Amino acid sequence: MYNYFLMTSEPTLTEHSPILTGKNFLGSLDLTPQSYRKVMDTAHAMKRSEFRGLKPLEGQTLAMIFEKASLRTRTTFDVAMYQLGGHSITLSNAEIGLGVRERVSDVAKNLERWVDGIMARVYLQTTLLELAQHCRVPVINGLSDSLHPVQLLADYQTLEERFGNPSGLKITYLGDGNNMANSHIEMSVLTGSDVTICTPVGYEPNGGILLNALAAGAKIKLTHSIDEALSGCQVLYTDVWISMGQEAEAERKRRAFAGYCVTPQMLERILPDGIFLHCLPAHYGEETVPEATEHPKSAVFDQAENRLHAQKALLYHLMAGQTARW
Ligand code: CP
Ligand code: NVA
Repeated sequence: MYNYFLMTSEPTLTEHSPILTGKNFLGSLDLTPQSYRKVMDTAHAMKRSEFRGLKPLEGQTLAMIFEKASLRTRTTFDVAMYQLGGHSITLSNAEIGLGVRERVSDVAKNLERWVDGIMARVYLQTTLLELAQHCRVPVINGLSDSLHPVQLLADYQTLEERFGNPSGLKITYLGDGNNMANSHIEMSVLTGSDVTICTPVGYEPNGGILLNALAAGAKIKLTHSIDEALSGCQVLYTDVWISMGQEAEAERKRRAFAGYCVTPQMLERILPDGIFLHCLPAHYGEETVPEATEHPKSAVFDQAENRLHAQKALLYHLMAGQTARW
């Protein structure tokens, strides 16, 4: 067990003892309500600079694989590893050719000999499962076509800052039933938030994820009515209509999503203390406009900041209990 708690002069940090050592984080439901609480408490503490100067990941390295582009995920994981005393390596798909130049399982079996954790942004969720199956270090989902769970940790940190406990919070996700919508559904299972997903017909979220969530008792509503979705809404969330890899569908989707653009006028229709979130990047002129992300109800840049704090907390809980290998 890493013994930094014995070395620190801050006895209160013992309440942040790592609780997910060596585990994977491939979806939000890899957390339990209890471990979610611990990760969030650590994220809030890290944002308050309570870990400043500590190096709980000293000597550890995170490999970051990117099959797709990224600003926030790449930067925040890199900065997070640095601030925790560790190091990161970015591996673009042009370099490693995941599953093309080399089998995914062989990439995993090589990386585990050198690094202490892997974060991967991929197309297929099965690629993450394959990486995790073939290596003994934590694998973190940095976005797949199915889920974007690290984004949701930052989102819920932002919600907790604004509203406290997210249980019962009325969240409307307006837009494409994509990886973000699926992850919102999983977070409802984890936290008890009250999630409405509003999409055009034919663009609903993943049926399996939805059915599992409903079976677990989650408060999820699907609708195609924007009026219904905005009524009583405390948190309005949107995402791009055309996700990375879907460029060929752009014209058809732009037609299907007419009326789904989040504008300042739409923000006037949510509750007076309601907020607007967007994972970014924004495709301005499609799902939203600059006047909405810059609106007083917008918390999108706080949300982006929280990518750093939430992921630092996640990395800490997954990796701080590991013995550095050098
Ligand atoms: N929100 C998000 O994941 O941003 P990037 O695609 O820039 O990483
Ligand atoms: N749904 C978007 C999220 C980007 C952070 C995509 O997959 O491109």
